[in-house]
Formats: sequence, structure tokens, C-alpha cells
Amino acid sequence: MVLTAPSILSANFLELGREIKETEEAGADLFHIDAMDGSFVPNITIGYFIVEHVKKAASLPLDVHLMIERPDRYIKNFIDAGADILTVHYEADRHLNSTLNLIKSLGAKAGVSINPSTPVSALEDVLHDADVVLLMSVNPGFGGQRFIPHSLKKIAALKSMITQKGLTGTKIEVDGGVTVGNAADVIGAGADILVMGSAFYNSENYKETIKAIRAKAQAHGR
Ligand code: DX5
Ligand code: ZN
Repeated sequence: MVLTAPSILSANFLELGREIKETEEAGADLFHIDAMDGSFVPNITIGYFIVEHVKKAASLPLDVHLMIERPDRYIKNFIDAGADILTVHYEADRHLNSTLNLIKSLGAKAGVSINPSTPVSALEDVLHDADVVLLMSVNPGFGGQRFIPHSLKKIAALKSMITQKGLTGTKIEVDGGVTVGNAADVIGAGADILVMGSAFYNSENYKETIKAIRAKAQAHGR
């Protein structure tokens, strides 16, 4: 089954409680939460304090994406705040295997993310420690950017690497510029979780947006 993860970065923060409720009523599967530090990426967004508040309002799992340098320093804070999946960047962490195992030892699912310029082959020696691989399909930092078409090849390459290694439980998450219009291609290439920020929160009808994604997934038998 393909899961949809609306990214609250594009939600109306003055109405966050209502946005959370409407996202759940629309049939989403996860909340994607982007934490940025102004150093790894040129933007500063959400810290663990906000995650803690979202946790109180949400019943869906929280999928927290850390775009911060040396994320190992903050793993416990984000898990204590309520992260169910915690993803760190390959480019930002020196001892990735240890960080992923730390995440799992604290009870969350561990994700590793790569930027558009990092090849999938970089994941060769870390894949076995990850529950989720988050492929960035834009350069991280902001919502509302255009999907980089080359990402489709990376999704397919990752899918075959996962299959080859027999790691069938490892999920592929795609983040950046995903829309109802390109969802079929993203799913067809092998994505399991679709992050959607602006395309979800700027849509007229959240329920219809989720329905449209489900229809694309079903057309692929997933
Ligand atoms: C970008 C973030 C994304 C962002 C996606 O750096 O990691 O999660 O919220 O937003 P859209 O779907 O608008 O590209
Ligand atoms: Zn993200």
C-alpha cells in the first residue's frame, strides 16, 4: 500500500489544530514534519517543541525529517517529543549507522535521506540499518519547489538495490514537488510513501486530493 504524508510546512500555522484534524479526516496516513536548522539548509523551521504540540493534537504517526547538521545531537529530543519515524540526512551525519541504531533503540523507526546530488549508491553500507529511505526530489529547504525529473531514476535504482539485498521491509519515501499530476510516475518507479506539502495544503479539497493519490496507487495495484 502507498502511504500519503502531508507536510505541515505548507499548512496554516495559525490554524494548525484545525489543519491537523482536517488532514486526518481526509484520510492521510502520516504527518510529515520538516525540522530545518538554517545551516544544513537555508531555512529555519520546526523544532522538537512544536513536534510535542503536534503530537498532542494528532492521532496519526509523526514522520519527522531532520534537515540539521549533526542530527545525532537531537535524536532523543525528537523521539521524546513524539516522532514515530525519525529521518536524518546522509550528508549531515558522520556516523550514520550508529545514529540509525540509536533511533531504533529509542523506539522509533529510522530513516535516512539523501539530497538530489547524492547517488543512491552512497546508501550501499547503510541500507540494512534503515527502515525508511527518504529520497529528496528537490533540494531541501523550502516547500513549493518543482520535482526534479531525474529523481524517478533514483527511485527505481533504490528499489532494485532494496530488492537485490532482500530488504523487502525497507520503505521508499519521496519528498519534494510531489503532486497529483506526477504521483503515478513516482508510484510507478517504486515509491511507498509520498510526501506532499503545497500540493496538499493548497488544494481545494483535502479529501479529494488523498482520493486522487489512492486512485493512482490502485492503478498500479498498490
Ligand atoms: C523540503 C521539505 C519537504 C517540503 C515538501 O525541504 O523536506 O518536506 O515540505 O513540500 P512540497 O511538497 O511543496 O515540495
Ligand atoms: Zn521533508
